[in-house]
Amino acid sequence: MSRVSEPAGGNAAAPVLVLGAKSDIARALAHALAARGHPLQLAVRDPAELDRDLADFATRHGVEVTAHAFDATDIAGFETFLDSLPALPRIVISAVGWMGDQDANAADPGLAAKVIATNFTGPALMLEAAARRIDAAGGPGAVIGISSVAGDRGRAKNYVYGAAKAGFTAWLSGMRQKYAARPLLVMTVKPGFVATAMTEGMDLPGALTTTPEALAARILAGLDRGRPVHVDPIWRIVMGIITHLPERIFMRTRF
Ligand SMILES: NC(=O)c1ccc[n+]([C@@H]2O[C@H](COP(=O)([O-])OP(=O)(O)OC[C@H]3O[C@@H](n4cnc5c(N)ncnc54)[C@H](OP(=O)(O)O)[C@@H]3O)[C@@H](O)[C@H]2O)c1
Repeated sequence: MSRVSEPAGGNAAAPVLVLGAKSDIARALAHALAARGHPLQLAVRDPAELDRDLADFATRHGVEVTAHAFDATDIAGFETFLDSLPALPRIVISAVGWMGDQDANAADPGLAAKVIATNFTGPALMLEAAARRIDAAGGPGAVIGISSVAGDRGRAKNYVYGAAKAGFTAWLSGMRQKYAARPLLVMTVKPGFVATAMTEGMDLPGALTTTPEALAARILAGLDRGRPVHVDPIWRIVMGIITHLPERIFMRTRF
């Protein structure tokens, strides 16, 4: 497929829509893309919270940056949201997510539904709608969904979040096959541990934890090469082991 992200100074830069733009991972990606000259459309629940970011992006990268109200649980409003953007985005990134507390999520149907809407149905339907528009315009383009290795195998510690991410991962895989012959890359990103607001206060193992900036650089390298799935090499090994453990052994572990 044609490249949709050219280094600054290359072809006219494609507009980038970032859903969940306050996320630390999303911010790192947005800075890296703006440094290449891409105009940014930053979407968050409360755009007023982006005032400082708008000035920062514009000053540091000299690109056009706009802020937009977006709630991933408002699925009925997705088409209107896309209509309201200043231009059709050619790269759409979803960094939307919410983990909450596993025990509370499993016990409370409202919380379980929130986890599923925030990590699965909302991002999936939004990327689906955006992809349809990019494809109708003839592409090229890319939609990037940030899922998680947590979706690879349900674990007692976080299976509500994990199940939602598993759904999102499967949805993206299906979309990728649907658009395989079109100039539209559907990319799945499955991070392991990333030091962000979501994991603040958790005791993360240093060797398995990356930074938003390092992850963003690897996602962009994948985007440039048209790679459909990004998982950090160390997490490919970890999840390769976890997913292949027989049930009776897995039941005795405490991952
Ligand atoms: N950190 C990790 O270790 C890790 C690992 C694997 C996957 N991930 C995934 O990576 C993505 C980015 O997460 P992060 O680590 O950067 O954490 P984060 O800073 O908590 O980012 C999550 C973002 O989702 C936004 N959000 C939550 N509910 C929303 C809704 N209903 N509508 C719109 N936006 C909503 C949040 O907005 P507010 O700021 O307004 O709450 C927040 O900016 C998430 O999908 C997460 O599941 C993270």
